[in-house]
This record gives sequence, C-alpha cells and structure tokens, in this order.
Amino acid sequence: MFVTTSNPSHREPVRVAIVGTGAIARGSHLPALTALASGQPLEIVAAVDVDAASVEAFCADAGIAHPYTDLDRMLAEQRPDLVTLATPPRFHRDQTVAALRAGAWVWCEKPPCPSLEDFDAIEAEEGAQQNGPYAAIVFQHRFGSGSRHVRELLATQAMGRPLVAHCQTTWYRDEAYYAVPWRGVWSSEGGGPAMGHGIHQMDLLLDLMGPWAEIRAMAGRLVHDVETEDVSTALIRFENGAMATVVNSVLSPDEVSRIRIDCERATVELTHLYGHRNADWRITPAPGITSEEADAWRGFGPDVPSSHEAQLRGLLEDLRAGRRPRSSGADGRKSLELVTALYKAAFTGGTVRAGEIGPGDPYYAALHGNAAGWAPEREVPAEVPA
Ligand SMILES: NC(=O)c1ccc[n+]([C@@H]2O[C@H](COP(=O)([O-])OP(=O)(O)OC[C@H]3O[C@@H](n4cnc5c(N)ncnc54)[C@H](O)[C@@H]3O)[C@@H](O)[C@H]2O)c1
Repeated sequence: MFVTTSNPSHREPVRVAIVGTGAIARGSHLPALTALASGQPLEIVAAVDVDAASVEAFCADAGIAHPYTDLDRMLAEQRPDLVTLATPPRFHRDQTVAALRAGAWVWCEKPPCPSLEDFDAIEAEEGAQQNGPYAAIVFQHRFGSGSRHVRELLATQAMGRPLVAHCQTTWYRDEAYYAVPWRGVWSSEGGGPAMGHGIHQMDLLLDLMGPWAEIRAMAGRLVHDVETEDVSTALIRFENGAMATVVNSVLSPDEVSRIRIDCERATVELTHLYGHRNADWRITPAPGITSEEADAWRGFGPDVPSSHEAQLRGLLEDLRAGRRPRSSGADGRKSLELVTALYKAAFTGGTVRAGEIGPGDPYYAALHGNAAGWAPEREVPAEVPA
C-alpha cells in the first residue's frame, strides 16, 4: 500500500537523483533506494559523477535512464524531489545548496561538510518554501530497532539516570589507505578519525544521551604521515551531568565500534563494527533488579538493523508529509559541533563549552582552527611562527 501525501508541493512518484557514483553510492544508496522502490512510488531518475565512465557504468548496471557529469544541468533537466549526495566532503556544501535551490530535498553523506560555517550556510538555504526542502545528513547508526529502543529507555529513564559512558571507534587503516592523495588532508578528507570515522559513534552517543555541555581532548599523529590526526581521545560532560570518554583511532588492529552507558539501574552496551542489529546490544541489570524488569528492557521488538535503508525510509515519509526529517538542521549539526569542539579542545589544550564556537572563532571556519602544528602550512597566518 502506498503512503498518502500531506505535502501539497509533493508529486508521486518521488523522483530521486544520486550524486557521486563511488563506493558508498553503489554499496548503500543504490541498494537502499532499490529496496524501498519495491514498496512505494519512487523512481531513480538520474545519477551524476564528474567521472563519465563511472556514472555511465553505474546507470547501465542499475537501469537508470539519465547519466550526467554536471549537477546543475541534471537539476535543471530532471527536477528531482530528492538528491542523495555520495561525493567527497569538500563538495557537500555547494552541492547541497545547489540542490536545495532547485527545490530538492537532500540526503548528504557524513561528514556533513568541512566546517560549522559551511553547515550554517546550508541551513540558511533550507525551508525557503513551505514544507521544505530540507537537507539531512546520513547518520545511519541512529536508526534501526536497537538504537530506537535504547533511546526510548534512556529518554524515559527506565533504567534510571545515565551516569557514565564510553564511546569507542577503534579501527585500523594501513599505509595503503593513506596513500590515496585526498586522505589525511584537511581540505579534502575534512578531518582525521574524529571527523571521518568516529563521527558515527559520537553522533549515536549524542542521540542517546542528549545535549553535551563541555569537552576536553587530545589528538596525535602517532603512525601516519598525515596533516590531520590519526588518533584522538576526549572527555565529555553532558547537560544531564553524565560523563563520557571517547576514543577515535585508526591505529587499532582489533577493530571495534562500541558504546557503553552505565545508568543507575543497568548498563547498556553496543558492540559492532560498521552496523548493528538487536543481538549487538546487551543490557546488564544492577543487583536487585527483577528478571521480569530486565527482560522488559531487553524487548527490542522485530529486528531492524541500522542501515541506510532504515534512515531513508523515515526520510521519505517526512518528505511526503512535508516535515523536517531527523538528522537535519540543529539535529544534524550537533555531532559536527561536537567534533569541532573536540579539535578546538585538543589543539588549544582548553575546555570547550557547547555553543561557544561561532562566527569569528577560527574553529568555526576550519576544523584545524589555524592551530600551529596542525593547520596546513599555507593556511597558517603570517604572524604565527612556523
Ligand atoms: N555512511 C557511511 O557509513 C559511509 C561509509 C563510507 C563513506 N561514506 C561517505 O561517503 C562519501 C563518499 O565516499 P566514497 O567512499 O563513496 O568515495 P568514493 O571516492 O568511492 O566515491 C566518490 C565519488 O564521487 C565522485 N565525485 C568526486 N567529485 C565529484 C563532484 N564534484 N561531483 C560529482 N561527483 C564527484 C567521484 O568521481 C567518485 O565516483 C564520503 O563523504 C564518505 O565519508 C559514508
């Protein structure tokens, strides 16, 4: 059965264009859109890539009628309702703005864009018309049955107040990974593992724990010859008083993605690598909790793995209803703000408070904040000694 629309400016079927036809477009965007198109009126009308051979092969393999090498031309000719962006981060701002101006909603890969200044420029373009268009960020780990269930348990304080948390992205990337010229470089990769890899777990941590209040941090280049960091650690205090440790590493041979939250009456843990399902969550009750109550906490419901499809399903419902989707606007900005604050705390050695990084702050315009020893040489102002 097809969903009824309450967005007056919306047409059926939803016309989708995929921009960037590399690994994540092939591996996640296309499969998610194809799966969803089997149950609702949705059509992939075009794909765009600066690499003509790539977009032509992508369209031929997926049966998409219109390959383009020019985004503006595609927007003008195809008038898509939704653009999914799977290009490198340095293009996210301009491509999102172009699609919003053409009236399309946008679902943009993480990391959202290189700076808070870029994010705010995107936000300023949203919702110019009633019912959108809006730009949401791909943060697929927030979605699926496990994170939904635990978010509800924490929001209702069923397990008591959250007190202590650990957020771990300990992955491994070798020299061959960093031999690709755009990696490990602020202007093209956006940042190191805090921005490129750990942002998923930190985003989920914020989604579960609520707003953060202050952060202290360290960053290092311990192995790789990169401009960015290859490891960072941080301490976060949340508005609700809870405290967390964070590790973002690409130096860890035994790879794992992990979140652990100790509440007054139970510990909840998620252990996975690139995606999770119900079985990856564990809830351990405190002494004295009845097995009936603990079993109720473990009732995750039908298993919906975290995935691009799980997030996109909700976004399409929002598009049809003309509602702001999750992971857009302030809700999409919060993990970029935390990552920015992590870099500022690490490079200045100070404590950074939520909300303090705004226009005029060097970290507002660039994650390296022009910090000596971290900023690209050419961007260090003349008055700063080399
Ligand atoms: N959500 C996730 O779990 C996840 C996983 C991997 C990658 N990503 C993100 O997805 C994005 C793309 O990563 P990838 O691994 O697919 O990279 P990729 O290099 O495999 O693909 C990027 C594609 O974009 C194309 N491209 C480059 N500049 C372009 C432009 N100006 N206009 C149109 N096309 C352009 C390239 O030719 C290439 O085909 C990155 O932001 C990355 O961080 C997200």
